[in-house]
Amino acid sequence: MLTKKENIEDVKKIMGIEVEMLKILPKLSEKMDSFNPWVKQIPSIFQELDLKENQTILDIPCGKGGVSVSLAKKYNVKVIGYDIIKEYVESANKLAKKNDVNNLCTFKAGDIRDITKKKNICNLLLWIAPPHIWKTSKNTIKSLRNCIKSNGLILIADAYLYKKNKKYEDYETLESTNKGYTFYGDKIIKFIDYKDKLWKKDYDRTKKSVQETLNKTKKDKKLIEKYLESLDKDEKSDTKYLGLAIWIIQINKK
Ligand SMILES: C[S@@+](CC[C@H](N)C(=O)[O-])C[C@H]1O[C@@H](n2cnc3c(N)ncnc32)[C@H](O)[C@@H]1O
Repeated sequence: MLTKKENIEDVKKIMGIEVEMLKILPKLSEKMDSFNPWVKQIPSIFQELDLKENQTILDIPCGKGGVSVSLAKKYNVKVIGYDIIKEYVESANKLAKKNDVNNLCTFKAGDIRDITKKKNICNLLLWIAPPHIWKTSKNTIKSLRNCIKSNGLILIADAYLYKKNKKYEDYETLESTNKGYTFYGDKIIKFIDYKDKLWKKDYDRTKKSVQETLNKTKKDKKLIEKYLESLDKDEKSDTKYLGLAIWIIQINKK
């Protein structure tokens, strides 16, 4: 499923799971097309973005394509998506086909660090529930803005830190996140702070999906049970330390 050691580390970190869990991860989320806490909020934000038919959307990481397939269907835009988990990419391509937008959508397995080396390839970049591979918001925007045409947009849906904590060392406070995102002269044109309001629904959805898998499966039962227990702990600490927000940033390349 995953090849390079550093990729395994990324996925472990973003999903907060053990190595053995990686094998069964795609099984746990069979009924879920999106893996982010903003599932209900994101569609109305797209309505404000004035998307046009000839535009290209880069969805990294795309997961199972739930966000960008709906976008292609509604706005007729072209979508390119990448994710490091091959099984997710296969599901994303299946979802595009099921929705009759496979002519508009291309999902491929790939590492975000390689994809972002390509210059000026999209009008809108989706950075939703991403891995914190570049550690700081300044380094993140530096890599992402490379792919975007001037005046294009990035939609960031991510978390920020209320107060410093060792578990979340790759997260920054809101003030320093905003400072990083605007360091290269780009402009935050919209910011919505959901604070801790979305965590409960997000964890309920994940727990339900994991419980369903547990009820069906005979293999790896102990491992899945352990994972389910860990979700309760994670929910408590995420709610305490992380605020959830959406940023729309306009890229200004002089
Ligand atoms: C929480 S999911 C979000 C997926 C998607 N944006 C969504 O909203 O459904 C995070 C995704 O990041 C992917 N990922 C982690 N590290 C990656 C990397 N270096 N390159 C590409 N994808 C990566 C994981 O495989 C996972 O699907």
